Amino acid sequence: MTEAPGQITAETPPRLVVLISGRGSNLGALIEACEQGQIPARIVGVVSNRPDAGGLGFAEQHGIPSQVLNHRDYPTREAFDADLATAIEGYAPDWVILAGFMRILTPGFVDRFTGRMLNIHPSLLPKYRGLDTHARALADGETEHGASVHFVTPELDGGPVIMQARVPIVSDDTADTLAARVQRAEHRLYPEVVRRVCSGEIQWSGRILQADGTPLGAPLQLDEDTHNASPPQPAG
Ligand code: GAR
Repeated sequence: MTEAPGQITAETPPRLVVLISGRGSNLGALIEACEQGQIPARIVGVVSNRPDAGGLGFAEQHGIPSQVLNHRDYPTREAFDADLATAIEGYAPDWVILAGFMRILTPGFVDRFTGRMLNIHPSLLPKYRGLDTHARALADGETEHGASVHFVTPELDGGPVIMQARVPIVSDDTADTLAARVQRAEHRLYPEVVRRVCSGEIQWSGRILQADGTPLGAPLQLDEDTHNASPPQPAG
């Protein structure tokens, strides 16, 4: 039988590299989940494209090697992505986890990590790809919003969605209050999905997305498809 990339074996927990650009709260949630054994994997490296990314502090506090590749130092996207791929491969990861990594990736880079690269996006995909998702959802009068974790493909925010977390939109929401509510959901969503891919429960080889060997007709929903998850956070 063929093992899924990064599948857990007794000897070698999957190796995760996390890519960040900013605050790194999702990185923090993943570190905590690994340390508590919720995800039986190791974060072996953190790479940021911004030298001032707050998340670099989490890596340092937890003894995780990190490096900065400043995209401003590169003449082209291709040149940046080539060095980024080399930096990532240096950690020999099983999984590449994009956690607030705010760069558009070249197809060549994506091809190199297809099937083992995940992204979290702050919307209920396919709605609101790209930027300013919270403000756009509010402007459209949506009553709910959320976050999605998907496999990365060359199409921006367009890869197969594994799982989503939904949150309500309340009447006095601003983009900031909504973003904060979505982020709290993200901090439960991402560890849950990473746990499932690392265990081989979720599989995608570039063809059919499967959960426990069954094709997924629609994204899984946090709390509905998670038996041991805590209930949704109150709005606010
Ligand atoms: C998260 O909300 C994530 O969904 C979003 O950036 C934030 C990073 O927060 N990602 C994107 O918008 C990608 N298109 P964090 O740095 O605190 O984890």
